[in-house]
Amino acid sequence: MTIRLDYTNMMAPPIDGGITAGEWGEAGAAFTAAHKAVVDQHAAGTLGFLDLPDDRALHKQTLDFVQRQRQRKGDDALTDVVVLGIGGSALGPIALRTSLCAPQWNLLDDSARGGNPRLHVLDNVDPANISALLARLDLRRALFVVTSKSGGTAETMAQYLIIRARLTAALGDEKGKERLVFVTDPEKGALRAIARSEKVTALDIPANVGGRFSVLTPVGILPAALVGIDTTQLLDGAADMRTRCASGMIGKNIAGVFAALQFLADQKHGRHIQVLMPYSDSLRDMADWFVQLWAESLGKHRTPGDAGVGPTPLGALGATDQHSKVQLFMEGPPDKTVTFIGVEEGGTDVEIPTLHQDIPELAYLGGHRLSELLDIERRATAGALAVRGRPNMTLTLDRVDPWHVGGLLMFLEMATAYAGHLYGVNAFDQPGVELGKQFTYAMLGRADAEQARQEWNLLPKADPKYAI
Ligand code: PA5
Repeated sequence: MTIRLDYTNMMAPPIDGGITAGEWGEAGAAFTAAHKAVVDQHAAGTLGFLDLPDDRALHKQTLDFVQRQRQRKGDDALTDVVVLGIGGSALGPIALRTSLCAPQWNLLDDSARGGNPRLHVLDNVDPANISALLARLDLRRALFVVTSKSGGTAETMAQYLIIRARLTAALGDEKGKERLVFVTDPEKGALRAIARSEKVTALDIPANVGGRFSVLTPVGILPAALVGIDTTQLLDGAADMRTRCASGMIGKNIAGVFAALQFLADQKHGRHIQVLMPYSDSLRDMADWFVQLWAESLGKHRTPGDAGVGPTPLGALGATDQHSKVQLFMEGPPDKTVTFIGVEEGGTDVEIPTLHQDIPELAYLGGHRLSELLDIERRATAGALAVRGRPNMTLTLDRVDPWHVGGLLMFLEMATAYAGHLYGVNAFDQPGVELGKQFTYAMLGRADAEQARQEWNLLPKADPKYAI
């Protein structure tokens, strides 16, 4: 069982405009310093995401709660789990559902789901979507997982208020509360305060784990366990990857290699756009999860007021996007790297029938398997990009199972932590989203947003001469 990274096509040679031996040699020392900084931060008690594979107490607390949910019987038996959350509180559960539940999970009947509930993630406040889900849910048989590290995010709190009112109206206050669980900071925030004062069950996101690094806390582990995913394997895979990233020598640290390659490609060769392109439908939402992790962690000012740094992550899906974005990757501006994700054993497979042997456009397909077609298309696309001098690399998973997915998550989280140090930014904050939040508070009339209200009122108003 392993995850491998082939980065031949990032280097020069063979890629004209790839990373040179000299640049790679110099990157070794920079990476060693970045690794040391990560180790030091961890030793100082931050970077709690690195401890999650060992936090068996938190895992057990989560599984005990899941066990109690499984004991609900008859009219109360659990059929639907609804996660309310946004950003790091939603993208992890979505990625886990897509990668580790059977395809079309929420459309399967009870027996095809092995008696496990459906899993919905409401990660926006679009009223049409929320209304549509609520209209078809049986509230008695649902569990609402309100997920917010800060415990006060406007979108999630708005969803919570709607659900809480519906539950109280339909089931009464006490029974309604039993359909709720909070996942939040152990001490701080409005959700924690409500949990305490109203005795709503709450699971902890450790204080030293930030939103987009929280997938292996109950943020991801609770929904995953509720739908029957083997979360022990998920944590074991993450632990194995952490061990593989223990060395400060770049050649021995797979996440370090990825981070340093992307950093050099961006900073030395203008490859500012970094694409993650799995060739597996099950990993399509993993690309979205990565996009948030890479963007929110690395897109920053190094010093106040500077122009800002950070690569622009982009998700794509093979083979689908060969008929969409790949034209741009091949012939558009040479400002991209592409990281493919290949899967060695795809699981279910389908043989293409041998029909229409007299039609050359179809005849060559017969007798091949769909997994073979997918894999060959990935290799063909990587090769074609290489021929055009477009750098790319390939991560290969033996299969998409909890162990490999846990490893992949930890790989990308550790790469992000290293990249933060290579760029010289704090990968663990997100000050850039604060002003927009403050303006929202101001317009909604939040009491403590007076300063933002004044700033908002001074902004230029829409000019009719620029409207059409
Ligand atoms: O990574 C982050 O910290 C953010 O993307 C958060 O996950 C997002 O803003 C939601 O925050 P919270 O979990 O506090 O509701």
